[in-house]
Amino acid sequence: MNVQFDFSSRHAMVFGGTTGINLGIAQAYARAGARVTVVSRKQANVDAAAATLSALGLGLGLVADVRDEQAVAAALAQAVAAHGPIDVLVSGAAGNFLAPAAQMSANAFKVVVDIDLLGSFHVARQALQHLRQGAASLIFISAPQSTVPMAYQAHVCAAKAGVDQLARVLALEWGALGVRVNAISPGPIEGTEGMRRLAPQGEEGAALVRQMVPLGRMGTTDDIAQLAMFLGSDAAGYISGAVIACDGGAQGQLSPMILAAADGALKKT
Ligand code: COA
Repeated sequence: MNVQFDFSSRHAMVFGGTTGINLGIAQAYARAGARVTVVSRKQANVDAAAATLSALGLGLGLVADVRDEQAVAAALAQAVAAHGPIDVLVSGAAGNFLAPAAQMSANAFKVVVDIDLLGSFHVARQALQHLRQGAASLIFISAPQSTVPMAYQAHVCAAKAGVDQLARVLALEWGALGVRVNAISPGPIEGTEGMRRLAPQGEEGAALVRQMVPLGRMGTTDDIAQLAMFLGSDAAGYISGAVIACDGGAQGQLSPMILAAADGALKKT
């Protein structure tokens, strides 16, 4: 990758940043010189990510569940005490599983809305006072489900549609404070928990996914990290309120992937 970003002297904080796409983003900021804080709910994942980030620069890992607003507030205060005001904040904690709406309990629906949507609100609202005054970038991690209705994804479709609108509203309200707010909508990204849950597995499954992507390949965590670095950098200084797909051109074409995965998953139950 030839594009170089410089995040030295900046603090990047990534919620959900201990695995997959979010860890890829955290590592990219660290490689570009940022002091990086990652937060997630599992101690073992936090410890592993913090060690990886510390090997690249100044890394800090904290445990908090985004559903718990006070825990989010405490993590933000600790991060700022260690690394200073936050220049770039990524809200990427998410949950997902395949379930037909008729068999999804209200609690199952709620748990995903609580993590993806309410969790994003907690992170943004509690972080505002800690963002670098006059020049900060807030990035939500959305999903194609925010605009494309997908079977077995009622909870995620509802939650991510809310995330997109939250990004747009906060861009309106916080622009005057110098806070840019955007969302990234990743397509199928190889090696992630999301793909393990939502895509048919094996070489056949991978071939089906490739067929749906005009660029002919699955994305990588680095593809998403490059966009996150752009949105966090001064190069994106006039971009706010945008939901940007990074999906190889797949756009709304991923429903068959979910159906094929659900077919396998539901046959097993
Ligand atoms: N199908 C149907 N319902 C399910 C389910 C599945 N595969 N997995 C969980 N649920 C239901 C549970 O039965 C429970 O509902 P109930 O109280 O009516 O029984 C509800 O969802 C909450 O489940 P629980 O396991 O208590 O929640 P949790 O907070 O421990 O886990 C999840 C959160 C459910 C989102 C879990 O899938 C998770 O932690 N995932 C890891 C992150 C992830 O999904 N990453 C991918 C992002 S794309």
